[in-house]
Amino acid sequence: MSRTGEFIREVDRWSAHNYGPLPVVLERGEGVWVWDVEGRKYLDMLAAYSAVNQGHRHPRIIAALEEQAGRLTLTSRAFHNDRMGPFLRQLCEATGFDRALPMNTGAEAVETALKAARKWGYEVKGVPEDRAEIIVCANNFHGRTTTIVGFSSEAQYKAGFGPFAPGFVTIPYGDSDALERAITADTVGFLVEPIQGEGGIVVPPDGYMTTVHEICRDRGVLVLNDEIQTGLGRTGKLFCGDWDGTRGDVLIVGKALGGGVFPVSAILANDEVMEVFHPGDHGSTFGGNPLGAAVGQASLEVILDEGLADRSLELGTWLHDRLSELDSPHIAEVRGRGLMIGIDIRKESGPARPFCDALMDRGILCNDTHQQVIRIAPPLVVTREILEQALSAITEVVSAGSPVTIG
Ligand SMILES: Cc1ncc(COP(=O)(O)O)c(C=O)c1O
Repeated sequence: MSRTGEFIREVDRWSAHNYGPLPVVLERGEGVWVWDVEGRKYLDMLAAYSAVNQGHRHPRIIAALEEQAGRLTLTSRAFHNDRMGPFLRQLCEATGFDRALPMNTGAEAVETALKAARKWGYEVKGVPEDRAEIIVCANNFHGRTTTIVGFSSEAQYKAGFGPFAPGFVTIPYGDSDALERAITADTVGFLVEPIQGEGGIVVPPDGYMTTVHEICRDRGVLVLNDEIQTGLGRTGKLFCGDWDGTRGDVLIVGKALGGGVFPVSAILANDEVMEVFHPGDHGSTFGGNPLGAAVGQASLEVILDEGLADRSLELGTWLHDRLSELDSPHIAEVRGRGLMIGIDIRKESGPARPFCDALMDRGILCNDTHQQVIRIAPPLVVTREILEQALSAITEVVSAGSPVTIG
């Protein structure tokens, strides 16, 4: 049996079967490239769902990790550490918010935003006890905790995991009239992705986030802007909301904040919201730990100093245009912004997964989302030349005479 087969068999035997990965076993990564255990080299066109925007093992981030690992890694929040303050200050200055609350994973940050909105609703807005409502969108993805999957519209994410928390109302995505109608006196927040990532790279109508922001401001509702996947340069702006001139009232960040080496997430908000938290209200053993703070600071610096948002805009626009021009019987639509691109495969051509398998055979790693969509999201340090190579592989795979087995 090949080494690949052996590793996969071991995972099959010892791991819960909660994922269905492509049959490739990776052992090394650098920049936009990864290598498997057979020594084959691949272009990483997924970037760990946008958590590796800076590229694999970015030298500046690894140096920060190593330097900090040599001094102090974890204190818990029972004590102060000398890294959290500088990191949060930089994060606030980069995003324009008064305060940050650090966590680890994206789902934890979303939970933190939900708690902030509810407490703000009771203490500042004056919503009667236990009546707070949060509006969410159909086709959302915000993580996998029981509260979050409870308001998913994806049957599989919920099946067998109930009962679920009450207090969530679902409206169609991209429909600001529906938002206006759904708001009641008890509504405290609207949780939204500025582009739905896991939902299939769904881009809302132009100006959606601006309208959402205005409606929520007028009706006394917080916009909880989940930029865990879209943020930190991915869509060609520092945050996707910047396309519409708004970052929301609570900005939720994760993934690339950890530079692909460590889970680092946070929510950002102004004092009116953040001051609802008092000692003992909320926390996490690892949230704000010095190792994560050092990595988070370096990760943010790399995005800013290397102009990765601008690069994403330029290269993403180029690639999007080329993909849109492809004459393919299989492509229904190409969607996205910056280097967050979805190639929607026609239903008659079968699911997107065989196309991803065929790309893997040609040295390109990407994954399918929402059955029909090939997700293209390389590290933002990618170059035009490398994207040209990827484009020819994609062109081959989606062409009329493609060897991909359909159906
Ligand atoms: C928009 C969005 N929110 C939240 C999450 C959850 O993040 P994590 O997997 O780190 O919990 C994801 C992950 O894909 C995401 O895309």
